[in-house]
Amino acid sequence: MPTERDTAFQMAASNIRFGRGITREIGMDLVDLKARRTMLVIDPALRDHPVGHTVLESLKQNDIGFEVFDDLSIEPTDASFKAAADCATQGGFDSFVAVGGGSTIDTAKAANLYSTHPSDFFDYVNAPIGLGHPIPGPLKPLIAVPTTAGTGSETTGVAIFDYVEKKAKTGIAHRYLKPTLGIVDSDNTRTLPPAVAAATGLDVLSHALESYTAMPFDERPMPARPLERPAYQGSNPVSDIWAIRALELMAEFLPRAYADPSDEEARAQMLLAAAIAGIGFGNAGVHLPHGMSYPVAGMVRGHRPDGYVVDHAMVPHGISVILNTPAVVRFTASANPERHLRGAEALGADVSDASPSEAGEVLAERVIHFMRTLGVPNGLAAVGYTTDDIPALVQGTLPQHRVTKLSPRPAGEAELTSLFEESMTIW
Ligand SMILES: NC(=O)c1ccc[n+]([C@@H]2O[C@H](COP(=O)([O-])OP(=O)(O)OC[C@H]3O[C@@H](n4cnc5c(N)ncnc54)[C@H](O)[C@@H]3O)[C@@H](O)[C@H]2O)c1
Repeated sequence: MPTERDTAFQMAASNIRFGRGITREIGMDLVDLKARRTMLVIDPALRDHPVGHTVLESLKQNDIGFEVFDDLSIEPTDASFKAAADCATQGGFDSFVAVGGGSTIDTAKAANLYSTHPSDFFDYVNAPIGLGHPIPGPLKPLIAVPTTAGTGSETTGVAIFDYVEKKAKTGIAHRYLKPTLGIVDSDNTRTLPPAVAAATGLDVLSHALESYTAMPFDERPMPARPLERPAYQGSNPVSDIWAIRALELMAEFLPRAYADPSDEEARAQMLLAAAIAGIGFGNAGVHLPHGMSYPVAGMVRGHRPDGYVVDHAMVPHGISVILNTPAVVRFTASANPERHLRGAEALGADVSDASPSEAGEVLAERVIHFMRTLGVPNGLAAVGYTTDDIPALVQGTLPQHRVTKLSPRPAGEAELTSLFEESMTIW
């Protein structure tokens, strides 16, 4: 019997406050939430930055009791999530504040989850790596202050980590993980090194493009209960609006924010773009470029990216995704050429003469244009991979069902092998 298709999609709202200088309001927000004891999860690199000072001062001025936790990993791991969760469990906090990029915000989400609804670590982790249990109820208040313009984690119900033993990234996804409030303040991205602004900003492009081109929500199977309808439910008419606007903003402002970190307007618009893309993909999902990125990040050997102050090799998240994107859009375009052309147009390409059969190439060329403008390495080979790694990269992608299933065109072992081959050297 054919599986019954879903007929509904759900738009879970995110609560975002946007404005320059508003980080100083955070203590008052905690008072209004009746918070008395907060776990302040902060990127250690930012404790002595203006954003760290502003948050600490605001907490003190408003008499909020707090404990600082900064023992986190850039690109978190299962161990670093567990360390934050242990601290949260022992600390008896009634609220959480996250100050940093996606790595920090995701760590705070995990700390909040496991201290509020204690469970074996893998119970909530996405299947098939974990058991994929839905989160049983609301969490404690979490206020997220993003300091990168990319992940949109301040808007999403997702927390991503590197499962070190399996050399693969995976995560936890549920609407209850969404922060209570995102404080989106462009004063907080002024210190971003250009290479980090580029890598994180390209994540905005990927989120928006993948959510716009994902399988439609009404081609997914019907869930047995509403609680089981995934946050990554496929493209839908509401997410589409956010995705297209995010592409337009990113195309206009990321090259400017990269070229000149003192460009206030460009930084503010990129933070807005990241949150807008987050609201879109948080309710639609991403697909193959993200699924393929998890082993690209997880199997890294020696790559040391510019701008990242870390003591380990890494491929930054935004880079690990964008390196797969040109090959993927050439592959997926035939499933829905109109959407691929509309995406290229929102990114600034002239599509007036393009035929449906050219959609993949037109979009791939436009993505490559941004990669070159922003100094992205030229393919997987440039971050240390060889064709000998492809079978392992494919095996690392296959279990990423939550996202690969949303590809508008199915991709099995043979297709993924070709996509990785094509992504070794891009131009
Ligand atoms: N939860 C989600 O919805 C979601 C979505 C996409 C990605 N992610 C995850 O988020 C992580 C990546 O997060 P990210 O791209 O925001 O970067 P990040 O948090 O990993 O930070 C990147 C680097 O920038 C530095 N940094 C951050 N803000 C800075 C600032 N204002 N000034 C100077 N340096 C600063 C950090 O110390 C670090 O070295 C990955 O683990 C990725 O998988 C999560």
